[in-house]
Amino acid sequence: MDNRPIGFFDSGIGGVTSIPYIMKMLPNERIVFYGDTARTPYGSKSPDTIREFSLQIADFLVKKNVKMIVIACNTVSSVAVPMLREKYPDIPIIGCITPTAKEVSKISKPNANIGIIATRGTVNAGVYQQKIEEMRSDVKVFSKACPALVPLIEEGLIDHEIMDMTTKYYLEGFVEENQIDTLVLGCTHYPLIKRSIQKLYPDLEIFSSSKEVAKAVELELEARDMLADQKEGKDEFYASDLSETFVTLIEKILGQEKDELKIGFEDLDIGE
Ligand code: DGL
Repeated sequence: MDNRPIGFFDSGIGGVTSIPYIMKMLPNERIVFYGDTARTPYGSKSPDTIREFSLQIADFLVKKNVKMIVIACNTVSSVAVPMLREKYPDIPIIGCITPTAKEVSKISKPNANIGIIATRGTVNAGVYQQKIEEMRSDVKVFSKACPALVPLIEEGLIDHEIMDMTTKYYLEGFVEENQIDTLVLGCTHYPLIKRSIQKLYPDLEIFSSSKEVAKAVELELEARDMLADQKEGKDEFYASDLSETFVTLIEKILGQEKDELKIGFEDLDIGE
């Protein structure tokens, strides 16, 4: 048993989409979340920069005395998991990609055509493709970078015609040409626009990395006997740039008022 909070982080609001699953599955757990909103998006930055930013955030979460770090960002998960595990050998560190790739490999039908939509960084790292193909030799995996989606989501343009135009711009062609039947939301921001994708392709089987990372957290805490037996205090959400949109989106995703949470600006220690 361990009543310390679980630390989550993302480049921005996306990682918050895992948290309703945790709240439902593990109501005794307390969350400390960090969104690096001042520097989002990470998806078009270099792997070295992403690793440097993620170390700064992990240091912040460790100072908050978290018992586990959840990289609720596929872009960071694609390049920084080994480095973070090496830096913090005593803290369990969970990324998004392995749990999602495992579930997709387990559930996809024979000879499925699997489409991964993600940031440019995640697509370039090729980790989804590699992991799914290692587990399933019968399926085909196709990837598509959708770099304009995260900035639009961070702007709160979610249920907006500009979003419908943008999802159409990226998906039309990709889905038809590759006969995609299974789509992986390989970015934790994308569950926020699932409706826009479903409007276009109602028959696609959709997997969300936000849900799979939450299931992996539950399994890991159980296996290590680290589940909390009571929730002590409010969930905390910090950002490197605290905008009204960030707060509104947190309320919308969690279905809670901001007064029920602790929300604040926190600068990271970025050294000299
Ligand atoms: N939510 C992040 C992910 O899962 C978005 C990355 C970005 O900032 O571009 O990849």
